[in-house]
Amino acid sequence: PDVRPLVAGNWKMNGTRSSLDQIKAISEGVKGELAEKVDALLCPPATLLYVATAICTDSPLALGAQDCHQNVSGAHTGDISAEMIADCFGTYVIVGHSERRADHGESDALVRAKTETANAADLTAIICVGETEEERERGETLQVLKRQLEGSIPDGARAERTVVAYEPVWAIGTGLTPSVADVAEAHAFMRRELAARFGAEGQAMRILYGGSVKPSNARDLMAVENVDGALIGGASLKAVDFLAIYDVY
Ligand code: G3H
Repeated sequence: PDVRPLVAGNWKMNGTRSSLDQIKAISEGVKGELAEKVDALLCPPATLLYVATAICTDSPLALGAQDCHQNVSGAHTGDISAEMIADCFGTYVIVGHSERRADHGESDALVRAKTETANAADLTAIICVGETEEERERGETLQVLKRQLEGSIPDGARAERTVVAYEPVWAIGTGLTPSVADVAEAHAFMRRELAARFGAEGQAMRILYGGSVKPSNARDLMAVENVDGALIGGASLKAVDFLAIYDVY
Protein backbone atom coordinates (compact mmCIF):
# COMPACT_ATOMS: atom_id res chain seq x y z
CA PRO A 1 0.00 0.00 0.00
CA ASP A 2 0.98 3.60 -0.47
CA VAL A 3 2.06 4.85 2.93
CA ARG A 4 3.19 8.44 3.26
CA PRO A 5 6.63 8.47 4.89
CA LEU A 6 7.39 10.35 8.09
CA VAL A 7 10.82 11.64 9.02
CA ALA A 8 10.80 12.47 12.71
CA GLY A 9 13.40 13.97 15.01
CA ASN A 10 13.52 13.31 18.74
CA TRP A 11 15.72 15.76 20.57
CA LYS A 12 15.42 13.85 23.87
CA MET A 13 16.77 15.93 26.79
CA ASN A 14 18.71 18.28 24.55
CA GLY A 15 18.01 21.78 23.37
CA THR A 16 17.71 25.23 24.88
CA ARG A 17 16.68 28.59 23.45
CA SER A 18 20.07 28.73 21.76
CA SER A 19 18.93 25.76 19.61
CA LEU A 20 15.98 27.61 18.13
CA ASP A 21 18.07 28.50 15.10
CA GLN A 22 18.29 24.76 14.30
CA ILE A 23 14.52 24.40 14.58
CA LYS A 24 14.10 27.40 12.31
CA ALA A 25 16.54 25.89 9.79
CA ILE A 26 14.71 22.56 9.82
CA SER A 27 11.36 24.27 9.37
CA GLU A 28 12.71 26.19 6.39
CA GLY A 29 14.53 23.20 4.92
CA VAL A 30 11.43 21.02 4.70
CA LYS A 31 9.55 23.57 2.61
CA GLY A 32 9.39 22.64 -1.04
CA GLU A 33 8.43 19.80 -3.31
CA LEU A 34 9.29 16.95 -0.94
CA ALA A 35 6.66 18.19 1.50
CA GLU A 36 4.05 16.95 -0.94
CA LYS A 37 5.05 13.34 -0.36
CA VAL A 38 6.95 13.16 2.93
CA ASP A 39 5.91 14.37 6.40
CA ALA A 40 8.47 15.96 8.70
CA LEU A 41 8.19 16.15 12.46
CA LEU A 42 10.34 17.46 15.26
CA CYS A 43 9.89 16.62 18.94
CA PRO A 44 11.96 19.13 20.90
CA PRO A 45 11.94 19.17 24.70
CA ALA A 46 8.59 20.34 26.06
CA THR A 47 10.16 23.60 27.24
CA LEU A 48 10.70 24.62 23.61
CA LEU A 49 7.47 23.33 22.11
CA TYR A 50 5.39 26.48 22.25
CA VAL A 51 8.10 28.85 21.08
CA ALA A 52 8.97 26.34 18.35
CA THR A 53 5.45 26.47 16.97
CA ALA A 54 5.74 30.23 16.81
CA ILE A 55 8.86 30.04 14.65
CA CYS A 56 7.50 27.26 12.44
CA THR A 57 4.39 28.99 11.17
CA ASP A 58 4.26 28.74 7.37
CA SER A 59 6.26 25.50 7.47
CA PRO A 60 5.02 21.97 6.85
CA LEU A 61 7.18 20.86 9.81
CA ALA A 62 4.93 19.29 12.44
CA LEU A 63 5.85 19.50 16.10
CA GLY A 64 5.31 17.10 18.91
CA ALA A 65 6.29 16.05 22.41
CA GLN A 66 8.35 13.14 23.71
CA ASP A 67 5.90 11.81 26.28
CA CYS A 68 2.54 12.53 27.87
CA HIS A 69 0.74 11.40 31.01
CA GLN A 70 -1.96 8.75 30.78
CA ASN A 71 -4.43 10.87 32.74
CA VAL A 72 -6.19 13.87 31.29
CA SER A 73 -5.16 16.22 34.12
CA GLY A 74 -4.61 16.27 37.84
CA ALA A 75 -2.08 15.90 40.62
CA HIS A 76 0.93 14.58 38.69
CA THR A 77 3.81 16.88 39.47
CA GLY A 78 6.24 17.30 36.62
CA ASP A 79 4.12 15.53 34.02
CA ILE A 80 2.64 16.93 30.84
CA SER A 81 -0.84 16.16 29.53
CA ALA A 82 -1.84 15.39 25.98
CA GLU A 83 -4.16 18.37 26.08
CA MET A 84 -1.25 20.67 27.01
CA ILE A 85 0.70 19.39 24.01
CA ALA A 86 -2.26 20.00 21.70
CA ASP A 87 -2.75 23.43 23.29
CA CYS A 88 0.84 24.29 22.25
CA PHE A 89 -0.01 23.17 18.69
CA GLY A 90 1.81 19.88 19.01
CA THR A 91 0.19 17.23 16.82
CA TYR A 92 2.28 14.17 17.71
CA VAL A 93 3.60 12.57 20.86
CA ILE A 94 6.18 9.82 21.26
CA VAL A 95 5.09 7.16 23.76
CA GLY A 96 6.92 4.18 25.18
CA HIS A 97 10.37 5.18 24.02
CA SER A 98 12.84 2.61 25.35
CA GLU A 99 14.49 5.30 27.45
CA ARG A 100 11.18 5.89 29.22
CA ARG A 101 10.53 2.17 29.51
CA ALA A 102 13.99 1.81 31.11
CA ASP A 103 14.29 5.05 33.13
CA HIS A 104 10.68 5.16 34.34
CA GLY A 105 9.65 1.52 34.23
CA GLU A 106 6.93 2.12 31.66
CA SER A 107 5.00 -1.03 30.82
CA ASP A 108 3.11 -1.93 27.67
CA ALA A 109 -0.16 -1.33 29.55
CA LEU A 110 0.95 2.16 30.52
CA VAL A 111 2.06 2.93 26.98
CA ARG A 112 -1.34 1.79 25.75
CA ALA A 113 -3.09 4.07 28.26
CA LYS A 114 -0.92 7.00 27.18
CA THR A 115 -1.73 6.29 23.55
CA GLU A 116 -5.47 6.29 24.27
CA THR A 117 -5.21 9.60 26.10
CA ALA A 118 -3.08 11.10 23.32
CA ASN A 119 -5.50 9.96 20.64
CA ALA A 120 -8.44 11.38 22.60
CA ALA A 121 -6.67 14.75 22.46
CA ASP A 122 -6.30 14.29 18.69
CA LEU A 123 -2.57 13.66 18.89
CA THR A 124 -0.92 11.04 16.70
CA ALA A 125 1.01 8.65 18.92
CA ILE A 126 4.41 7.31 17.90
CA ILE A 127 4.54 4.03 19.78
CA CYS A 128 8.09 2.72 20.23
CA VAL A 129 9.00 -0.95 20.39
CA GLY A 130 12.27 -2.84 20.16
CA GLU A 131 14.34 -5.61 21.64
CA THR A 132 17.35 -5.32 23.92
CA GLU A 133 20.70 -6.79 23.03
CA GLU A 134 20.13 -9.76 25.35
CA GLU A 135 16.74 -10.45 23.83
CA ARG A 136 18.25 -10.38 20.36
CA GLU A 137 21.06 -12.73 21.38
CA ARG A 138 18.48 -15.14 22.76
CA GLY A 139 16.67 -15.04 19.41
CA GLU A 140 13.58 -13.44 20.95
CA THR A 141 13.34 -10.33 18.78
CA LEU A 142 10.08 -11.15 17.00
CA GLN A 143 8.46 -12.46 20.20
CA VAL A 144 9.33 -9.20 21.97
CA LEU A 145 7.95 -7.14 19.11
CA LYS A 146 4.74 -9.17 19.10
CA ARG A 147 4.25 -8.72 22.83
CA GLN A 148 4.99 -4.98 22.73
CA LEU A 149 2.73 -4.35 19.75
CA GLU A 150 -0.14 -6.31 21.30
CA GLY A 151 0.28 -4.65 24.67
CA SER A 152 1.04 -1.08 23.67
CA ILE A 153 -1.41 -0.39 20.84
CA PRO A 154 -5.05 0.15 21.82
CA ASP A 155 -7.89 -1.80 20.24
CA GLY A 156 -9.48 0.10 17.39
CA ALA A 157 -6.29 2.00 16.58
CA ARG A 158 -6.46 3.92 13.33
CA ALA A 159 -3.63 4.58 10.88
CA GLU A 160 -4.19 8.32 10.96
CA ARG A 161 -3.39 8.53 14.68
CA THR A 162 -0.98 5.62 15.08
CA VAL A 163 2.68 5.36 14.11
CA VAL A 164 4.91 2.50 15.21
CA ALA A 165 8.66 3.04 15.64
CA TYR A 166 10.96 0.03 15.67
CA GLU A 167 13.99 0.92 17.72
CA PRO A 168 16.30 -1.92 18.68
CA VAL A 169 17.51 -0.75 22.09
CA TRP A 170 21.11 -1.74 21.32
CA ALA A 171 21.08 0.45 18.19
CA ILE A 172 20.05 3.66 19.96
CA GLY A 173 22.85 6.17 20.25
CA THR A 174 25.49 3.51 19.65
CA GLY A 175 26.29 3.93 15.97
CA LEU A 176 25.25 0.31 15.49
CA THR A 177 22.37 -0.65 13.21
CA PRO A 178 20.82 -3.97 12.33
CA SER A 179 21.55 -5.30 8.86
CA VAL A 180 19.14 -4.33 6.13
CA ALA A 181 17.94 -7.95 6.14
CA ASP A 182 17.21 -7.83 9.87
CA VAL A 183 15.33 -4.54 9.51
CA ALA A 184 13.35 -6.02 6.62
CA GLU A 185 12.45 -9.10 8.66
CA ALA A 186 11.35 -7.09 11.70
CA HIS A 187 9.29 -4.62 9.67
CA ALA A 188 7.63 -7.33 7.59
CA PHE A 189 6.76 -9.17 10.79
CA MET A 190 5.28 -6.03 12.36
CA ARG A 191 3.29 -5.30 9.19
CA ARG A 192 1.76 -8.77 9.31
CA GLU A 193 0.91 -8.37 12.98
CA LEU A 194 -0.67 -4.95 12.45
CA ALA A 195 -2.63 -6.11 9.40
CA ALA A 196 -3.87 -9.21 11.22
CA ARG A 197 -5.17 -7.14 14.10
CA PHE A 198 -6.30 -3.91 12.44
CA GLY A 199 -6.97 -4.93 8.82
CA ALA A 200 -6.67 -2.09 6.30
CA GLU A 201 -5.81 0.34 9.09
CA GLY A 202 -2.88 -1.87 10.03
CA GLN A 203 -1.72 -1.97 6.42
CA ALA A 204 -1.71 1.84 6.34
CA MET A 205 0.02 2.48 9.69
CA ARG A 206 3.46 3.93 9.34
CA ILE A 207 6.31 1.86 10.74
CA LEU A 208 9.44 3.94 11.34
CA TYR A 209 12.94 2.64 11.91
CA GLY A 210 15.00 4.31 14.65
CA GLY A 211 18.46 3.69 16.07
CA SER A 212 21.61 5.41 14.81
CA VAL A 213 20.01 6.71 11.61
CA LYS A 214 22.37 9.20 10.02
CA PRO A 215 22.85 10.74 6.59
CA SER A 216 25.30 8.00 5.56
CA ASN A 217 22.97 5.05 6.25
CA ALA A 218 19.53 6.60 5.79
CA ARG A 219 19.20 5.80 2.11
CA ASP A 220 19.71 2.07 2.60
CA LEU A 221 17.48 1.87 5.66
CA MET A 222 14.64 3.93 4.18
CA ALA A 223 14.66 1.81 1.03
CA VAL A 224 13.69 -1.31 2.99
CA GLU A 225 10.16 -2.53 2.38
CA ASN A 226 7.75 -1.58 5.16
CA VAL A 227 10.11 1.08 6.48
CA ASP A 228 7.93 4.17 6.26
CA GLY A 229 10.36 6.70 7.63
CA ALA A 230 12.78 7.31 10.46
CA LEU A 231 12.84 8.31 14.10
CA ILE A 232 16.11 10.14 14.50
CA GLY A 233 17.79 11.01 17.77
CA GLY A 234 21.33 12.39 17.69
CA ALA A 235 21.37 13.26 14.00
CA SER A 236 18.21 15.37 14.36
CA LEU A 237 19.97 17.91 16.57
CA LYS A 238 21.74 19.46 13.61
CA ALA A 239 19.48 20.83 10.90
CA VAL A 240 21.95 19.90 8.20
CA ASP A 241 21.90 16.22 9.21
CA PHE A 242 18.13 16.08 9.72
CA LEU A 243 17.61 17.60 6.30
CA ALA A 244 20.12 15.26 4.64
CA ILE A 245 18.10 12.32 5.96
CA TYR A 246 14.80 13.91 4.94
CA ASP A 247 16.24 14.46 1.48
CA VAL A 248 16.82 10.75 0.82
CA TYR A 249 13.17 10.73 -0.22
O1 G3H B 1 14.11 8.36 19.24
C1 G3H B 1 15.19 8.23 18.65
C2 G3H B 1 16.00 7.07 18.81
O2 G3H B 1 16.06 6.65 20.13
C3 G3H B 1 17.26 7.00 18.05
O3 G3H B 1 18.29 7.73 18.66
O4 G3H B 1 19.33 8.29 16.48
O5 G3H B 1 20.46 8.89 18.63
O6 G3H B 1 20.31 6.51 17.87
P1 G3H B 1 19.69 7.84 17.87
